[in-house]
Amino acid sequence: MSENKEFKTIIDSLKRYMELESLSGQRELPIQRGQVSISGVVSGGDLSPLERLKSEVSSCTKCNLSKTRSQVVFGAGSPVADLMFVGEAPGMEEDLQGIPFVGRAGALLTKIIEAISLKRENVYIANVLKCRPPANRNPLPAEILICEGYLIKQIELIKPKVICALGKFAAQTLLRSEEPISRLRGTFYDYHGAKLMPTFHPAYLLRNSAGKQFVWEDMKKIQRMLNSK
Ligand code: URA
Repeated sequence: MSENKEFKTIIDSLKRYMELESLSGQRELPIQRGQVSISGVVSGGDLSPLERLKSEVSSCTKCNLSKTRSQVVFGAGSPVADLMFVGEAPGMEEDLQGIPFVGRAGALLTKIIEAISLKRENVYIANVLKCRPPANRNPLPAEILICEGYLIKQIELIKPKVICALGKFAAQTLLRSEEPISRLRGTFYDYHGAKLMPTFHPAYLLRNSAGKQFVWEDMKKIQRMLNSK
């Protein structure tokens, strides 16, 4: 059936439905805004809680980053992942594509994931901030405070066994700590029912390849933790 014919069929059925309903005094369609798609399939109700959260966050205007972003970068990967990575904030590439860790640091993160025999699509990747700070400046404390609630909801819905906090901002934010990442990394912490391992950010590794051996040690601990449960 062509799209026009399909559309006409839907309108005709709606008309017949309204005529019948009007006989019993009904004057409005009992459908909420945004529930009907062009194919006539009622949608919205079948979104998972994570998809519903994504749709809520995609129109967030709680801070000024909403004025400069191209789009919200909610997160990507398996909604039932055992392992979740949390970075700092989207960069330019991520802001353009709407996907976390797709730039050079992202390519390195993919290699790190594959080094422990996992695939990118089987883990979940998100950031503390869902919107790009202009010119990739550091996140402001107020932005972290506002956005962190979304990350915590994501973690509660995905329920990963292990969270890997990438870099100083993610580690210090999640652990409420001011310790440097070099002191925080390498140890598991309890966090919202998960084991949290801070490690160096892939962008840092691109500038300091000496850090790679420490990340490898941390990843092996993560692999053991995942296999132990
Ligand atoms: N750095 C981050 O912390 N997050 C991204 O998504 C990309 C780079």
